[in-house]
Amino acid sequence: VIVRFSKDSGALRPSAIRRFASLLQDPSYFSFAGGAPNPLTFPSEALAEAAREAILTHRDVALQYGPTAGLPELRRATAQILYARGVVSSHPDRIVITTGSQQGLDLLARVLVDPGDVVAVESPAYVGGLAAFAARRAQFLAARRDADRLDVEELARKVRRARSEGRRVSVLYTIPNFQNPSGWTLSLAARRELLSAAAELDLLVLEDDPYAEIHFGEPPPAPLAALDQEGRVVHLGSFSKTLSAGLRCGFLLGAEEIVRKVELTKQAADLCSSMLDQSTLAIYLARNDYAAHLVGVRKFYAEQKAIFLTALREECPATVETSEPAGGLFTWGALPAGLDAEMLLDRLLAEEKVAYVPGRSFFVDENPDNGRWFRLTFAKEPPDRLEEGARRLGRFLARVAA
Ligand SMILES: Cc1ncc(COP(=O)(O)O)c(C=O)c1O
Repeated sequence: VIVRFSKDSGALRPSAIRRFASLLQDPSYFSFAGGAPNPLTFPSEALAEAAREAILTHRDVALQYGPTAGLPELRRATAQILYARGVVSSHPDRIVITTGSQQGLDLLARVLVDPGDVVAVESPAYVGGLAAFAARRAQFLAARRDADRLDVEELARKVRRARSEGRRVSVLYTIPNFQNPSGWTLSLAARRELLSAAAELDLLVLEDDPYAEIHFGEPPPAPLAALDQEGRVVHLGSFSKTLSAGLRCGFLLGAEEIVRKVELTKQAADLCSSMLDQSTLAIYLARNDYAAHLVGVRKFYAEQKAIFLTALREECPATVETSEPAGGLFTWGALPAGLDAEMLLDRLLAEEKVAYVPGRSFFVDENPDNGRWFRLTFAKEPPDRLEEGARRLGRFLARVAA
């Protein structure tokens, strides 16, 4: 049989991590590659009790189809969480519970992007977000991000150029907090600057924010959705990194007309997100002190980060730089000019059994400098292996940089 695949399916590329995912199932490898949270942070006892209550006491809801926009109790709880973070426009009616925030990205791409449209992204950008837009056959323009700012001048220049060539550009995708892959966070001034650039350029801003609660010191500056006065920001969030990635509960908050379109599109995709997952989460949030749980999660990752970054700085040659994240799960490394993280990966796996994610897949342009970057996570390995892995990476880099 000759299968005739759609053009959309042809736009999809396997992720850089998936390529060696099977290797990483082998526990002898030091994995700093995948982006998964550490299961030790998941409150399994409390979630088990909540799941039990959901099934035995709320069978008609938890084991049944439910509203496409999500379980009302969970939408209310989510609205309160966002309100507490300063998003005063937060309201359950403007929230859709999604199957992870990844589905939120996919649904937004479907309702906002046509094939051939140009999506404005930051450079580097989260691969999963890029994949959702690429699946719609979008093209990209990128504005540089650095430790605390998005280059809004570059953004404006490129948006204007694309439009002068007759392209439609209507969306800007950004991760302000503890960005995946870089760990960088936009300052408050950079957030204001971004929003005024978006207003001037008439761009809708998609704020992807799964790491906000995982801050190692002070909380990050206000979310874009809290600073937004004109309904220009759609905010995406998730319980994956703080409670359980397997419960697949994310959410988005946006203007009424966007949320209704997303709801219709979601109905065609999956009718509703898992009602068992949503019920479990809603009961967990009602019966437990989520704020206290978050304190523990922050402490856990802050310790992981400190151990790993200290070891990396001790073990790696001074010419290798790593970012100092104030939260989240990642640090972003840069090799000396001329070295290529992707080309070195096979050797690193073979010689030291250490994995990172080469940076190139986080970029949408072909700049030769992109090859220097790599992403490391400190989420998963226990402290002794964080140190040992850093030692192995350091000695490998000393060899190749020599
Ligand atoms: C920036 C960002 N957005 C979205 C997601 C998707 O998370 P989930 O679908 O589990 O909510 C991730 C996961 O790694 C992420 O890093």
